[in-house]
Amino acid sequence: MNVLLVASECAPFVKTGGLADVVGALPKALEPHGIESRIILPLYPALKDLAGEARFELDLGVLHGSPARLVCVEAEGISLILLDAPDLFDRGAGIYLDERGADWSDNAQRFAALCEAAVHVVLNGIDGWRPDILHAHDWQAGLAPWYLRQQGSDIPCVLTIHNIAFQGLFPSALMNELDLDADGFSPDGYEYYGQISYLKAGVVASRRITTVSPTYARELMSPEFGMGFEGLLQARRADLAGILNGIDLEVWDPETDPTIAETYTARALKRKTVNRTALEKRFSLSSNPEAPLFCVISRLTEQKGLDLLLDALPTLVGRGGRLALLGSGDGQLEDAFRKAAVAHAGSVGAIIGYDEKLSHLMQAGADAILIPSRFEPCGLTQLYGLRYGTLPVVSRTGGLADTVIDANDAAIKTGCATGFQFAPVTASALSDAIDRACSLFADRKRWAAVMRNAMRHPVGWDSSAADYQALFQSLFDSRSEGAE
Ligand code: ADP
Ligand code: GLC
Repeated sequence: MNVLLVASECAPFVKTGGLADVVGALPKALEPHGIESRIILPLYPALKDLAGEARFELDLGVLHGSPARLVCVEAEGISLILLDAPDLFDRGAGIYLDERGADWSDNAQRFAALCEAAVHVVLNGIDGWRPDILHAHDWQAGLAPWYLRQQGSDIPCVLTIHNIAFQGLFPSALMNELDLDADGFSPDGYEYYGQISYLKAGVVASRRITTVSPTYARELMSPEFGMGFEGLLQARRADLAGILNGIDLEVWDPETDPTIAETYTARALKRKTVNRTALEKRFSLSSNPEAPLFCVISRLTEQKGLDLLLDALPTLVGRGGRLALLGSGDGQLEDAFRKAAVAHAGSVGAIIGYDEKLSHLMQAGADAILIPSRFEPCGLTQLYGLRYGTLPVVSRTGGLADTVIDANDAAIKTGCATGFQFAPVTASALSDAIDRACSLFADRKRWAAVMRNAMRHPVGWDSSAADYQALFQSLFDSRSEGAE
């Protein structure tokens, strides 16, 4: 079975968040299940060197004012189909945002072009390869299923929602320019409160909808988390599934990670402390073997709840804990953490920016990772934390609720505790969880036992890849039956 993934980012080539990790890991995870995947992705400047290695090229003429071609390359064991449309994608700043941090004014055209190119691949094949299933990721890929439906194609489409907060909303006046049929501008189509929604187009035109954890799948059908999509998703309940993300164990494994100060295993936990010392140095933190070193690796946005951490800092510091934060995003939060690092010098360190390599050292060196998200479709940093024996302290929501087992007395006794959960998502509940973590840390034997549980907890792709395979297979079989 051949699956075409349509996405706007893919690790290790271009990444702003967990979407890239998932898109980069899924093809490798599906391969043992007999699925050959290719990813269609815009050719951003960061991917230019790859295009030089092209195995196959195809001219697409002009797409939304830009000359366009498709370039097939193999890199890092992944088959990529790059959309080379320089007037849309060959520019500096971010992949979604301009120099001022605003959305690129032509994002509608940029990602419509990606979807049109994906449709070309579905309908015509490329380089002797033709997809049986289209797997669209988030709003940037949402028009691909819609365009296919518009053209009468019966290829099954699956849309995965990684984050409902991003809905791809654009003015209705673009309808013609985007080749969207006017009939579709209705509540049953891609219309969303008077605008065009790429995400809604994808939901409506896809046979199945998935999201990245079972709890988020349920949450999405509630007004609190559905962000306006709850009614639509309730109506599609039978087609909606939550499949938990996994992590790429070739990239995230403390036993082999080449980027950390010292590799270690659950049987040789002492070696982890070499990473803690390196981390303390990097963030100019004092050393305190009596209290945990907490870390944060995150986008600094409302979703991630890090404003609550600012309020919980007195507890963290008061218990002798230390904090190393790596993140970027909201300017006010960036400033607030810079200031906190000055106010609590030696106890709080903040590096504002994006640094993939440092994020590995932090997972290896910290004792615990804080993730107080207001909502979290899946979350990957708690999964990396589990793998690295860096106990996650998480709010009880979405994928965080599904992947971390709270270290209450019963869970510790039965040997299944892997971290700390708290609810509701408030500064005081977060403070209590930090307090509990500090208390458990003081009991080194019990803490080490929880670390070992965490490191044994399955976080790879095995079972989720099997779930995707089963989903794709059922669609593939129903299509063959229809053709008979
Ligand atoms: P989201 O996709 O909502 O940002 P996830 O937890 O799913 O959240 O994924 C975030 C990914 O981005 C992880 O791989 C994490 O390590 C990485 N990341 C986030 N912020 C940074 C940063 N400032 N520097 C390096 N990596 C980061
Ligand atoms: C989104 C979500 C995050 C999830 C990631 C990958 O960015 O915010 O929770 O882990 O997508 O699915």
